[in-house]
Amino acid sequence: MSVQDEIRRLTAADIQARKGGEPIVCLTSYHAHTARIVDQHCDIILVGDSLGMVMHGLETTVPVTLDMMILQGHAVMRGSRRALVTVDMPFGSYEASKEQAFMSAARVLKETGCGAIKMEGGVRVAETVRFLVERGVPVMGHIGLTPQSINTIGSFRAQGRDESDWARIEDDAKAVAEAGAFSVVIEAVAEPLARKISESIRVPTIGIGASVACDGQVLVLEDMLGLSPRVPKFVKRYTTLGPSIGEAVAAFAAEVRGRAFPGAEHVYPMKAKKP
Ligand code: KIV
Repeated sequence: MSVQDEIRRLTAADIQARKGGEPIVCLTSYHAHTARIVDQHCDIILVGDSLGMVMHGLETTVPVTLDMMILQGHAVMRGSRRALVTVDMPFGSYEASKEQAFMSAARVLKETGCGAIKMEGGVRVAETVRFLVERGVPVMGHIGLTPQSINTIGSFRAQGRDESDWARIEDDAKAVAEAGAFSVVIEAVAEPLARKISESIRVPTIGIGASVACDGQVLVLEDMLGLSPRVPKFVKRYTTLGPSIGEAVAAFAAEVRGRAFPGAEHVYPMKAKKP
């Protein structure tokens, strides 16, 4: 067996065991090539339904379909070897019943080969989380700001800004953790609440705009690379690929228009004529 064959993918159980230990590193990816890069540094690759906004230019994640998630989940599995690939369940694929959720999750696991799924919601999805986990589907929870609820919550604003909302958000986290989720994403909540939740549940919390008080952090890859035109305030841009791509494209366009495109100077060698 080669050294490469020995690399084992992280599992949901491995991530769960990291509670309170080494911080968990998670980024989104939707393509094989970015997955290959992210895989070298991350514990979890999240195929988030944010792909609807990031890849497809949609205004919200609501229109994203299960087929879109499966297609990109499959690509990410092809590009990665070590990280736990977790695929988001899109809006409309799990809310109607536990059975609907199981059928959707089973499709995701079977057709992508990923190791876990993620589902938005707290108390209202806890029974579904239990149903899936009991049937062999590892589930990551997602509480706080849940973007699939945009049409009822009205905006992508931080949650729990009013202390009277804290108990409800904490109950959401506890409900999914107690139902068997192996980790819980906390999105856009203030530090004291994120800390309270992280201290009160037995599975790792993974924060996005939820302070350092979590057991790990997740960001949308395109946001931290400087490729997304608009990003939430909490996002640190680690590089600025958007402007760099713009410069490269402008240079190409100028060369082509000036008939100086160096790539065109490459001449394929002609086959020698047979005597
Ligand atoms: O869809 C997504 O990318 C997510 C992360 C923002 C956590 O759910």
